[in-house]
Amino acid sequence: MSDLYNLGFGKTENELYLQDIAVEGKIPDWLTGSFIRNGPGTFFIGQQQYRHWFDGLAMLHKFAFSEGSVSYANKFLRTKAYNEAMDTGKISYSEFATDPCRSMFGKVTAAFNQKITDSAKVNVGQFAQKYLALGETAMQVEFDPHTLDTLGYYQYETKYKQHVTTVHPILDSRHDEVYQHVIRFGRISHYCLKRIKSNGKSEVVGEIPVTYPAYLHSFGMTPRYLIIAEFPFKVYPLKLLFQVKPFIENYKWKPKDGTRFYVMDRQTGNVVGRLETDPFFAFHHINAFEKNNEIIMDIDAYDNADIISSFYLNRLKDSDLELPFGTLRRYRLNLRNQSVKWEQLSDECLEMPRYDNRHYHMDSSYNFVYGLSVNKSHIRGFYNQLVKIDITRQHTKTWYTANHYPSEPVFVPAPDAKSEDDGVVLTIVLDTENESSYLLVLDGQTFTEMGRAVVKQPILIGYHGQYFPEL
Ligand code: CO
Repeated sequence: MSDLYNLGFGKTENELYLQDIAVEGKIPDWLTGSFIRNGPGTFFIGQQQYRHWFDGLAMLHKFAFSEGSVSYANKFLRTKAYNEAMDTGKISYSEFATDPCRSMFGKVTAAFNQKITDSAKVNVGQFAQKYLALGETAMQVEFDPHTLDTLGYYQYETKYKQHVTTVHPILDSRHDEVYQHVIRFGRISHYCLKRIKSNGKSEVVGEIPVTYPAYLHSFGMTPRYLIIAEFPFKVYPLKLLFQVKPFIENYKWKPKDGTRFYVMDRQTGNVVGRLETDPFFAFHHINAFEKNNEIIMDIDAYDNADIISSFYLNRLKDSDLELPFGTLRRYRLNLRNQSVKWEQLSDECLEMPRYDNRHYHMDSSYNFVYGLSVNKSHIRGFYNQLVKIDITRQHTKTWYTANHYPSEPVFVPAPDAKSEDDGVVLTIVLDTENESSYLLVLDGQTFTEMGRAVVKQPILIGYHGQYFPEL
């Protein structure tokens, strides 16, 4: 674990551009696009260290494929948070769980002049005719997908004041639209769902006023509805204004509130359901669809929000750490009688869940979920294996190598795919024995290795990435 801690949560020594990296095995010839991932590039600024896995300064990684060969590049996003940290040698902007060091004298001033990070480190996306690095603050960062150079900021809407958003906008490819959720904090706060057209123009679909807004990392969508699962991990917004504590430490777990599903009609913006169920927490919605007058939502759910505090770096340093397990749950929302039922579809630990969303999004025919997991024989430490869950057969395949730490697995369908899992799964694996990382290509069906491409530098444990076939 200490090797993982030093290599996976340390700092990146070099920005690289490597034309042809060593390939072992075989990368399919049809893979001709680019796999771009986002995540922290360093947890150290001068003598200071960030506190949490969700802190750190954004770094993009790009693996580009051509006829079985692979190139690699990585680059920090050149944001204000990055530039000021490099100029001063100090953490200068507040992150998810780290505030800049403040002297007692400077504390009050700092509270009213807080600088919220612009280091969009969590995901990447292509919409509004831009390639964007996505973070949870209102400002997103446009980058050049060829050079990974930082180009400037992008806001979903300038007229409508908003404070936080999700890094999981949902594409409706049939209508060439993207949906996104934002929160505006105030005496009364608002959950707001927006529609972003392909020309970049955005409009408000609908708003929901709330007194104690929840921490929301993603949301759900079906052909007719947008769904917010409001977990009872909530904040009194004035606490955020005064910035007494780092952002996430202002949120409190309030299990008595239960979890509430808000169901919004996508056309009218009307809230057509407010359904309550047992308290649970999640970062990630997976798929959602409508079937037999029910809204079916697959969610990577936890019993509570303890997972967030498990990701403090001082916890990750502890080799006895046991992560709380998220598991795949299916929630059934019945709008007629306003009832919610749920069942667990697999007992495997699941995080960073993915599925073939290009082809199956909002479609009940989907059957496979890929994700990060913890090997049941090696449960101490960090996520150490990949899983593929077959929902209908209640069957699981895994990929595990001791002392190797994979990240989010991204499914890429084969061009002439004959079944849902006909394709490859891409991920970056940190090899703590060789102090290096590699791009791993798994066969989507057998979940066994086809090939790997090695980068002779450890890549920090990151978050989300996407495969762009056009690059
Ligand atoms: Co996420």
